[in-house]
Amino acid sequence: MADIDNRYIIDYFELKAKLEDEKIEGGLLKNLVIEYSKQERKLAELVKQKNYILGMAAHDIRNPLASIKGFADLLKDNSVGELNTTQKEFISIISNAASDLLVLLNDLLDFASVSQGSIELDLKENSLSELLLERIRLIGPLAEKKDIKIVFTGIFDERTIFFDRKKIVQVIDNLLSNAVKYSFIGTKVSVEIYHKINEESVCLDIYDSGPGIPEGEEKKLFGEFKKLNVSPTGGETSTGLGLAISKKIVEAHKGKIYGKNSDKTSGAVFGFCLPYEVN
Ligand SMILES: Nc1ncnc2c1ncn2[C@@H]1O[C@H](COP(=O)(O)OP(=O)(O)O)[C@@H](O)[C@H]1O
Ligand SMILES: [Mg+2]
Repeated sequence: MADIDNRYIIDYFELKAKLEDEKIEGGLLKNLVIEYSKQERKLAELVKQKNYILGMAAHDIRNPLASIKGFADLLKDNSVGELNTTQKEFISIISNAASDLLVLLNDLLDFASVSQGSIELDLKENSLSELLLERIRLIGPLAEKKDIKIVFTGIFDERTIFFDRKKIVQVIDNLLSNAVKYSFIGTKVSVEIYHKINEESVCLDIYDSGPGIPEGEEKKLFGEFKKLNVSPTGGETSTGLGLAISKKIVEAHKGKIYGKNSDKTSGAVFGFCLPYEVN
């Protein structure tokens, strides 16, 4: 009998201790919930402030910067009178610095817009091949400056799929401009489009003739503000945001983006696949 009583006594103390623990945990949880909602409100306020600053950057910095660049270019081209060599050199520095700042500002604004919650897509029926050819034509002059040839090696594909044209333009432009930016002078960039029938997707690959991706750095490629141990071959600007923006856009389309060293050419291959059906 005494044994049984002892067992009950032990159980009673165990139970009491347990209840007390739970009371403490319950209190802690309540405090955590209160603290969490306080921090959540603070965060919402900070996001509002960040958006305000970015809005200001968009209108109050981009426009004057574009004027600086525009007027510097007018002076550089002798449109308002002949400049001497030193004046020309200085005005070129001003024009190039303004261009670099515009690239950075545009990347920051694009990054901010694709980072806010879910990306809104304006899905319309489009041809990826047609868009690609248009973008290759537009980047032509930039490639020519480095004596780089961009060749389309695939078959022109008639199939149309649904995607957000403006956003996919950003992705193609970034991948193409990276291929030109990192390829060595006087080389070739080749681009192709193909279908993965079993995965019901269409893919676009861009092979460059640059240094490729340094060993062990592949993971950094699509990170924000991440630059690898390779430099643009013609002194171009680098922000390390283009691939992060592109990843968000492709993933919003339920697609995949990738970059690796090519086994066909000396450089890297970057590409993405878009599903036939986004939804
Ligand atoms: N084609 C490429 N070959 C080698 N490295 C590349 C290539 N494309 C991108 N990278 C590396 O990935 C980084 C991130 O690319 P990205 O986000 O487009 O930034 P950015 O073009 O401003 O340098 C680049 O800074 C570069 O180090
Ligand atoms: Mg880039």
